Amino acid sequence: MSGYFITFEGGEGCGKSTQLALLKEYLEQKRQNVIATKEPGGTEIGLELRHMLVTGDKDKMDPIAEALLYYADRRIHMTKKIWPALEEGKWVLSDRFADSTVAYQYYGYNKKVEKNVLDNLYQVTVGNFKPDLTFIFDLDVETGLARSYAKAAGMVEKETRHESRGTEFHQLLRQGFLEIAKQEPERCVVLNADKSIESLHQDVVKIISERFGIA
Ligand code: TMP
Repeated sequence: MSGYFITFEGGEGCGKSTQLALLKEYLEQKRQNVIATKEPGGTEIGLELRHMLVTGDKDKMDPIAEALLYYADRRIHMTKKIWPALEEGKWVLSDRFADSTVAYQYYGYNKKVEKNVLDNLYQVTVGNFKPDLTFIFDLDVETGLARSYAKAAGMVEKETRHESRGTEFHQLLRQGFLEIAKQEPERCVVLNADKSIESLHQDVVKIISERFGIA
């Protein structure tokens, strides 16, 4: 495949979606062919799954059911959108991917699901394919949750199912993301997200130029 697959990860309200949009603009100015997508919800069926997953009562399903639905979303996303775009040589920027399942459904739930269940789902769904680069936006939990709730205030149907799990869950998943980055330092770059949008964008651009020679 000739395109690049870049994923944007982090806890609630970490600013990853804003940074993804800014990187897309930047790459387009450099005459690159780019698509922006997200999980869950990067496809039509995915949007229906998203609704089930991110709205309503936090206990309406357990972490295994969640992992299965996130992986159903991911499989459709891979086959219908991500792989075809990469084959056409496009950059694919995804707002979340499989690291979110490990961070939320494994670390966030304090390892109540066996890690190899998630690893097997990854193998079946994605195989040996991996993102070329993953940004992990690290931000303190209180700041992120406050931002996320402020954003949700304007939504008719509030996408705050995971936010409502409380700070302990979110501390665990923050540490989880840092653990993932430690295990795969080549693929993952942790960025301190506690700074201005523009300064964080400059950090993102610097990494992209270093890795992919875009200047
Ligand atoms: P978003 O708010 O970044 O759009 O993400 C939707 C929510 O879904 C967010 O609370 C994180 C959660 N999520 C998981 O729990 N597991 C996953 O695998 C993914 C992709 C997202």
